[in-house]
Amino acid sequence: MTLWEGRFSSGPSSELMSFTESLSFDKVLWREDIRGSKAHVRGLIHSGIISSDDGEALLDGLDKITAEFEDDRFVFLESDEDIHSAIERRLTELLGDVGAKLHTGRSRNDQIATDMRMFSKRVIAEVGTQVVSLCEVFLEIARSAKDSYLPGYTHTQRAQPILLSHHLLAHGWAFLRDLDRLAATYRRLDVSPLGAGALGGSTLPLDPDFVASELGFSARFANSVDVVSDRDFVAEILFDIALLGVHLSRVGEEFILWSTEEFGFVRLDDAYSTGSSLLPHKKNADIAELARGKTGRLVGNLMALLTTLKGLPLSYNRDLQEDKEGLFDSVKQVSLALKAVRGMIATSSFDFGRMKSFADSEYLVAVDLAEFLVKGGMPFRKAHSLVGSLVRDSIERRVPLYELVSAHPLLGAEASLLLEPASAIRRRITPGGSGQEAVASQLSEFSGLLDQQRKAFAELG
Ligand code: ARG
Repeated sequence: MTLWEGRFSSGPSSELMSFTESLSFDKVLWREDIRGSKAHVRGLIHSGIISSDDGEALLDGLDKITAEFEDDRFVFLESDEDIHSAIERRLTELLGDVGAKLHTGRSRNDQIATDMRMFSKRVIAEVGTQVVSLCEVFLEIARSAKDSYLPGYTHTQRAQPILLSHHLLAHGWAFLRDLDRLAATYRRLDVSPLGAGALGGSTLPLDPDFVASELGFSARFANSVDVVSDRDFVAEILFDIALLGVHLSRVGEEFILWSTEEFGFVRLDDAYSTGSSLLPHKKNADIAELARGKTGRLVGNLMALLTTLKGLPLSYNRDLQEDKEGLFDSVKQVSLALKAVRGMIATSSFDFGRMKSFADSEYLVAVDLAEFLVKGGMPFRKAHSLVGSLVRDSIERRVPLYELVSAHPLLGAEASLLLEPASAIRRRITPGGSGQEAVASQLSEFSGLLDQQRKAFAELG
């Protein structure tokens, strides 16, 4: 039986069903679908469209179906096209004609849009909470790193010594922005589509505001045509997750580099690394590699949906069914990645000594010598060139920079004291930079913002 049999002389072909069905993937929405149906029924009672006896029977039937899903007893039929038709079919089996009243004043168009928004609210809360928990690990390690420093890189070339805490928090700030984005997406999508019908509303006295508040949405739709065809919120989540994935991928890349023998900054815990089936000595950073690798599909899912949406005429079109698999996949993959990366970082041990030994190169503080000359009145470009030629001289003649600086009339003993990287970090004074004081205040700012996000996402969940 189809939902449209009255108008049709024959049932659907098997090719049509297998090509167009969505049950195989939208069944994960059963909870949202039943919640939406219950709110719809309460709305129908509230507006006097159905009697409260019928309404109570429908609510009761929907509770029975909930129990069937929870106990894994719900039986799908070949003819069930999607989660909506499966649940409505079962309700009619249980209640007869009363079950057939469920869909009064509702279309699958406003129904699926409602399910997807409820699902999105739930998963944003879940993903956000996992991002918060990853940030906590960065914060914890940043705190315990104290005064440890390492070479900071630009162009993957050693640039300046920086505090390890400073470096780790740089990743943390990117994840805080991800949290902001997820929260903003949540706020925008927190709108109930129920009552829009197929696209134009209804002649029945539905009360979309009542249903919106029953479902915990902040508002109802403003335009029924828009709300049944709008999938901006799915695109936004996919973007938020894609960018979150990009950030995870950058962390992954760094851990891959840092755990090589060449860098040796980090040792991965055995439980969070893999071995080789052939080479007995190998220890691989597979979590980090897949955090990097899986980002491809996160970006792909975003591109796929944007391409589907492009050029769609208003309002609902079946193309919109393509919003689901990508979203489900991105949510699942990013959640797995967040947990695995969090575990990998939390259990890693950092080789502070090795980081320091790499950062303790005189050349990494060459810019401080130029700034020393600037303080004495020399134009920066001239100072840069003077120090640059000393560096070149030092490399070519294999003389320590320290000796050349000490002997130089404009630099001398006072400037040579600047060549110690630890003291270079102590002398950094700019806010947000890699000096101890600036990093201490950054740590407390970060931790305050993280507390706020933790609370905000716990409230969403
Ligand atoms: N499976 C459909 C979707 O995901 C549900 C809505 C179907 N609406 C329709 N008019 N055929 O979009």
